Amino acid sequence: MKAVVLGAAGGIGQPLSLLLKANPAVTELALYDIVNSPGVAVDLSHIATPSKVEGFLPPDDGLKKALTGANVVVIPAGIPRKPGVSSRDDLFKINAGIVRDLATGIATTAPKAFVLVISNPVNSTVPIVAEVFKKHGVFDPKRIFGVTTLDVVRASTFVSEILGDRSLSPSVSVPVVGGHSGVTIVPLLSQSSHPLPASLDASALDGLINRIQFGGDEVVKAKDGAGSATLSMAYAGAEFAGKVIRAVKGEKGIVAPTFVNLASDKTGGDALKKELGKDLEYFSAPVELGVDGVAKIHGLGKISPAEKALVEAALPELSANIEKGIAFVEVPK
Ligand code: NAI
Repeated sequence: MKAVVLGAAGGIGQPLSLLLKANPAVTELALYDIVNSPGVAVDLSHIATPSKVEGFLPPDDGLKKALTGANVVVIPAGIPRKPGVSSRDDLFKINAGIVRDLATGIATTAPKAFVLVISNPVNSTVPIVAEVFKKHGVFDPKRIFGVTTLDVVRASTFVSEILGDRSLSPSVSVPVVGGHSGVTIVPLLSQSSHPLPASLDASALDGLINRIQFGGDEVVKAKDGAGSATLSMAYAGAEFAGKVIRAVKGEKGIVAPTFVNLASDKTGGDALKKELGKDLEYFSAPVELGVDGVAKIHGLGKISPAEKALVEAALPELSANIEKGIAFVEVPK
């Protein structure tokens, strides 16, 4: 099981690489970045876990060498939010090109790899990866994932806080659907594994929803110019990568929300589009993972009228973000 991290020397990349090094299912770890990746690799290589670790830089075909034989590729490369670059969409200008070029490397060197996209704006970068793969004739909608796990992790944490018991947080499960930015993040709190207290009033519920949607802003503000979530994102990215790895190795019944292409009717994409009442190409929904990647995209299930309104409110922005990603590969700007 060869895992590759593209952007491995960054704020997310380093702790994510550490967590992948600690995952015994990973037998080989390749770290690629435009700076510092060999140092990070040597540092991690002293950890007594099975995987061999190597670091690569752009010269001498470093990207190709890193990607050769890859099973899972995680992409946290690109700039994060900071003052002056305040929305995830602002990141598009720089990250779109970075992700397009890395996707080209994957499409030509490891077209069968499972690709996990962390770089923001995820609502646009995932379509960019898919369009690059289409151009190279290697697109498989089951193998490309936008990592929305941090929204799920935040929902578990914040719900456990409302329940007054942080020790519950690892077992609290809330599906988060839609996309990965502001109002496109829709937590389905009515489906929480741990129901919210009946005493929670409407404004407290709105506050909780808002905190899950804009939790990233708390981190950007607290870091005060030093970037956005890195450690919680690394944790979330490693959680999701770990689930993909377990599923690929044959474990059944693993379900996780993730932003995926709805092209494949066989995996439930069409049914979800019908449920949404819109011909969207991508959506984040609970997805059952299997040996080939996406095994089944679940529908929204029973949701409250208020949640239905949140989904409706998410669709225009989501659709615009998706179109922007697709157009970038068709006609680069
Ligand atoms: P960072 O700036 O600390 O690290 C980014 C790394 O990417 C740097 O080491 C940089 O050298 C590298 N890089 C830049 N261009 C590259 C290229 N062409 N090839 C390979 N590596 C390249 O940023 P941080 O905080 O690690 O964030 C990375 C991305 O993750 C940002 O786009 C951020 O918005 C996103 N993010 C996504 C989240 C999610 O939930 N999906 C949550 C938090 C951040």
